[in-house]
Amino acid sequence: MAWVRRLVFGAALAVSAVSPLRAEGLDLHWLWDDRCAQCHGHSAEFARRLSWRDGDLVLAHPVGDPLRFLRHHYPPEAETEPIYRMLQAEAATPPRFREACAGCHDSAAVLARESIVFRGSRPVVRRTGQPLGEALAGHRGIDAEAQVFFEALLTRVAREVHRPPAD
Ligand code: HEC
Ligand code: HEC
Repeated sequence: MAWVRRLVFGAALAVSAVSPLRAEGLDLHWLWDDRCAQCHGHSAEFARRLSWRDGDLVLAHPVGDPLRFLRHHYPPEAETEPIYRMLQAEAATPPRFREACAGCHDSAAVLARESIVFRGSRPVVRRTGQPLGEALAGHRGIDAEAQVFFEALLTRVAREVHRPPAD
């Protein structure tokens, strides 16, 4: 369904010049791969290399304020804060998905996009309807601690790829 998002995104860009359109349902990881990855590589690896102080990005660039910098950089205006929050979350997350899961599941964004949907606010496995936490328990050696970690990680990433319409 990537083409659907592409169309939605294309439309959002076309309209954003005339109105502060909210980019409803835009997949942030798709946006990153489309608009940022060519220069910055994988988003989480990039985010972890940046300097953060008390959860705020400290820019190498002299403009200082990271949101102001980003608004004049490459993200569409409406996506500046969501992209910033994604980088913040990624910087705070150790690369455990890459170490334990990526060999079979590519990236967390790919797994979340293809295999996780929301039933109300609860993430479930698309194929089976099983709640995500339950599906993770015991999967490929995931213990109780890892279950909590990966459930939180995949829930966050699933929200970044399947974003509910803004109200
Ligand atoms: C054409 C290449 C290019 C693209 C595309 C690009 N960037 Fe950048 N980005 C740069 C360069 C070069 C810098 C360093 C700029 C500077 O400090 O003046 C930078 C700096 C940054 C920084 C600050 C890094 C630091 O060390 O403080 C962030 C955050 C950032 N980019 C995010 C993004 C995001 C988000 C996107 C996509 C929406 C994006 N960039 C797209 C080239 C690019
Ligand atoms: C050796 C390969 C392998 C590894 C490593 C692996 N998985 Fe899986 N995973 C699978 C397969 C195959 C499925 C399909 C269902 C099944 O067989 O359990 C799956 C299913 C899933 C699902 C449910 C999606 C669905 O459609 O069934 C989730 C969520 C998931 N894995 C998360 C993880 C996480 C998180 C990790 C890392 C801690 C991980 N997996 C590591 C192979 C793997």
